[in-house]
Amino acid sequence: MLYGRTTLSKFLIEQLRGDKSAQDLSALLIDVAAAIKGISAMVSKGALGDHLGSAGTQNVQGETQKKLDVLTNELMLRQCEWGGQLAGMVSEEMDEPFTVPSPYPRGAYLLAFDPLDGSSNIDVNVAVGTIFSVLKHADRKPPQTASYLQNGDRQIAAGYAIYGPSTMLVISVGRGTHGFTLDRETGNFVLTHPDLTIPADTGEFAINVSNERFWEPPITRYVGECKAGRSGIRERDFNMRWIASMVAEVHRILMRGGVFMYPRDTRDPSKPGRLRLLYEGNPMAMLIEQAGGCASTGRGRICELPPSQVHQRTPVILGSRNEVERIERYHREYDEGSDRPFVSPLFNERSLYRPEVT
Ligand code: AHG
Ligand code: MN
Ligand code: MN
Repeated sequence: MLYGRTTLSKFLIEQLRGDKSAQDLSALLIDVAAAIKGISAMVSKGALGDHLGSAGTQNVQGETQKKLDVLTNELMLRQCEWGGQLAGMVSEEMDEPFTVPSPYPRGAYLLAFDPLDGSSNIDVNVAVGTIFSVLKHADRKPPQTASYLQNGDRQIAAGYAIYGPSTMLVISVGRGTHGFTLDRETGNFVLTHPDLTIPADTGEFAINVSNERFWEPPITRYVGECKAGRSGIRERDFNMRWIASMVAEVHRILMRGGVFMYPRDTRDPSKPGRLRLLYEGNPMAMLIEQAGGCASTGRGRICELPPSQVHQRTPVILGSRNEVERIERYHREYDEGSDRPFVSPLFNERSLYRPEVT
């Protein structure tokens, strides 16, 4: 039934009623949603669209860009620059921040985005997404790099789109996390998943196990215990997923719980993790927390991390509260050394009095 459904515009008017700057924020989110509809149409063409494959260029992170990374970035810029709500944008695919050019009026918000998340999946027709974060730009002057370096707790809104069997938009303006499904016949995003809530407990974890040799001990401990299942100290079996699209992992967690980890590792000491803070870690952390879950670096909330660079990376551990809190405890115990009980030298590996292992 079409009549009576809550579309994105209706939802935003209702959620932001009484908020002074609501009109601009609504207009901005509607523009972001329009860009997302464009990206959805583009990616769904698949091999028929001539958009697959490499662009032959590299982004500032040294990653080879797909044609679709470049095209979707362009689409986000063009769709969001003109309305007078934004002062500037940062993106995974742009070395430097983009300042809204004249003749467009400059607005009071900043947008940080990852135009195509999980883009390594695009050529194999697996779900990809778009992630975005809205920050305030109170200053009248054009934004500088420093203007974007705000803690995640200062986000005004955050969201992602997932381009799967259906296209969905999941957003928060700080009043819960809500999911919309794109009705391809009417072109409307329709509220289908209001007030998403992540169960506190879960039996599902997601991590790229091929990085195991680079993990820190608290992660090895946690994953080891999950793998041991019923026969280990957790005394129950766990299941594992790895899609390599953060949007798809976060979406699964918002739908049925779970824990997602892309932790700090020792692969490259200059990078404290794989994912980027401003346009991956922070927006996903806001959505997860607004749905009752936790989002941590392992050593504190992601949203409290002060950014020092636009493309800064962060460890990400998010999802069901009790599991994330357990992983944080494992980090604490490791940092204090209390996970390594004192072993008398008489009983160490070289000793003749080695106790029997049971
Ligand atoms: P992007 O395509 O925007 O560069 O992001 C991909 C990210 C994220 O979506 C996913 O969780 C992770 O990279 C996968 O990384 P691995 O290939 O190392 O598993
Ligand atoms: Mn990404
Ligand atoms: Mn990307």
